[in-house]
Amino acid sequence: MLLIRFVLSQLVGWALTFAALKLGAPLSGFALAISQGVLAAFASRVLRAPRWWLVFHLAFTPLVWAASGLGISAGWYLAAFTVLALFYWTSFRTQVPLFLTNATTTHAVLALLPDTPARVLDAGAGTGSLLRPLAAARPDCHFVGIEAAPGPWVIGRLLAAGTTNIDWRRGDFWADDWAAYDLIYTFLSPVPMPEVWAKANTQMRPGARLVSNSFAVPGVAPDFVVPATEAGGRELYVYSPAAKGKAPIKG
Ligand SMILES: C[S@@+](CC[C@H](N)C(=O)[O-])C[C@H]1O[C@@H](n2cnc3c(N)ncnc32)[C@H](O)[C@@H]1O
Repeated sequence: MLLIRFVLSQLVGWALTFAALKLGAPLSGFALAISQGVLAAFASRVLRAPRWWLVFHLAFTPLVWAASGLGISAGWYLAAFTVLALFYWTSFRTQVPLFLTNATTTHAVLALLPDTPARVLDAGAGTGSLLRPLAAARPDCHFVGIEAAPGPWVIGRLLAAGTTNIDWRRGDFWADDWAAYDLIYTFLSPVPMPEVWAKANTQMRPGARLVSNSFAVPGVAPDFVVPATEAGGRELYVYSPAAKGKAPIKG
């Protein structure tokens, strides 16, 4: 698991730094913090953690060291940690952070909705920045937003209060049955896309659409792509999972 590898890399970084001190390495203060960062980054590579984690390992202890000199009360760190935890809840596990669909992309998604009354799911709905404008523009459709993180979910709950065609839920979209929808929108990350495709193929009904903002399903040809120039700087990959059968189309 990635979190365990992160903690392990940091611990190895500290163990090697203390070993260097024992052997008489003249390290103290910022130099000590930098050494730990470099050794933790090295351990991270050995443990085959993602390359971009090197930056976190290199920066973590030096930043802690620098911040400790600022005299900031521990309560502020706790407050910052709590806010981040509420918003990025399971991101370390799902590898899906919070970022929001912009207004132009929302407009492009609106154009992809069926002409007839439809049920639409935003899987990982954030604060509902996509669903609210869609619900206002298409009162004949029913919109479901499922969000795992408490922070964005509460904001979405407040902002969608009184909107009768939005069903705003807190939970795990993997536990939902996707057979209930005519269109499912995802804006996640590259990591879950193979699993999204597998679930869509198993559960979505013929004729239903899967629309993925920015992240294509690897090895699967979309029906079409709405170019970034027309979709607020992000490509929209449009699939008809049930029509493509259960196995990814390679090549
Ligand atoms: C990139 S944001 C997109 C938010 C929203 N769909 C939008 O377009 O504005 C992805 C969201 O998915 C949520 N998420 C990730 N995995 C989830 C899961 N299994 N169940 C519910 N929400 C999830 C994250 O907490 C995050 O808020």
